[in-house]
Amino acid sequence: MDLQERARQSMPRGVPMAWMDDLYEHPPIWVARGEGARFTDVDGHTYLDMYVADMSAFCGHGPAAVADAVAHRIKRGNQFLLPGEDSIIVAEHLAGRYGLPKWQFTSSATQANTEVIRLARALTGREIVLVFDGKYHGEDDQTLVVLENGAVVPEMRGLPAGIEAKARIVQFNDADALEAALAPGDVALVLAEPAMTNVGFLLPEPGFHERLRRATRDAGTLLAIDETHSMVCAYGGFTRELGLEPDFLTLGKSIAAGVPLAAYGMRDEIASLIAPPEESRVAMGVVVDEVSTGGTLFGNALSMAAGRAALLDILTEDAFERTAALGEQMATGLRTAIEGAGLPWSVAQYGSHGSYFFVPDPPVDGAGARAADDPDLRALIRVFMANRGVWESGWWLGPTVSVAHGADDIDRYAGLFGEFLAAVT
Ligand SMILES: Cc1ncc(COP(=O)(O)O)c(C=O)c1O
Repeated sequence: MDLQERARQSMPRGVPMAWMDDLYEHPPIWVARGEGARFTDVDGHTYLDMYVADMSAFCGHGPAAVADAVAHRIKRGNQFLLPGEDSIIVAEHLAGRYGLPKWQFTSSATQANTEVIRLARALTGREIVLVFDGKYHGEDDQTLVVLENGAVVPEMRGLPAGIEAKARIVQFNDADALEAALAPGDVALVLAEPAMTNVGFLLPEPGFHERLRRATRDAGTLLAIDETHSMVCAYGGFTRELGLEPDFLTLGKSIAAGVPLAAYGMRDEIASLIAPPEESRVAMGVVVDEVSTGGTLFGNALSMAAGRAALLDILTEDAFERTAALGEQMATGLRTAIEGAGLPWSVAQYGSHGSYFFVPDPPVDGAGARAADDPDLRALIRVFMANRGVWESGWWLGPTVSVAHGADDIDRYAGLFGEFLAAVT
């Protein structure tokens, strides 16, 4: 609280980034260090981390392979605005793992999705982007829209007037509604998580992705699968797991163990759009015949070194097998606790990630997930757990097992969930 008070003098809301104050129903704790599946606050309290920084710490805190790679790189220079060999190694690896041949890099998934939207608009000559209710794809203007009484409206303040006319929103798993929304033939891009992760964990129903792909192809609409979160669920994400065939694929957060790096993959035909301008940039402030992408720090040597180490040394097939088994253990533990308390609650899980719901069956769309939610109850669970040394996941997400968690950690988490239920029922 002392640090927060001091921070209010130099930072709005006393935090370096407003979300740090937004995400909880209490002031943020201030962190001193982290190791493996745990972090320790400035007062010396250590927490078992089931949130893993909104999945960005899926590699665990301070993983040795990335720490070594980053230390090695920074001593040799980290930022040149010129390419290095690590970027080829990472791009080749992503192509093999996710099945899309060409890759570009940014520093955040927001920026990757921003570029994907621009490329889709340039390729299709259309402007509308379709997203699913309950989505989060970052802070790009175009996806910051929600449904209010059935109408698309801007989600927050500070957004340009008129963005709602360039967006369409349908419920996840509702292929009929999706086909109807694509029917006018004016949608440039469907931007979709393969399983939704920002409104609880909503799994795709059998056949949904097949219809999504068919409907987008029929309508001349491009399809971007955003695996920024869901990449933790399986080696190669749901894209490889379900044999999805997106035109674009977005990754971020954990691909460089939380060192800022994001990426998007694309088909060859789309890659050809990232062409050099017809005339070289000899002057500023003139129209250039090129899709707008890029940033000074994108693809920097430090991020690429971290990405190479994370992908090749930590996010291995073995690691995904192990975290999936622990994810299964977590879901079983939560379900056992729920049954023990006699509550009509449910759990959704795939690989390392899960989510519990206060209804008998896991919801399948954003509207259902919101209707099933109980923010006060979630807040109570968080505080109960925090007071006992466990850092529960954010309300929109659900717990994630990281590469650094062990079976004992998962037993502790599920056991504490059971203790909570026993205390309140
Ligand atoms: C699915 C998805 N896409 C994109 C983003 C944006 O990522 P970033 O905050 O790194 O820009 C997020 C962040 O939570 C996300 O969950």
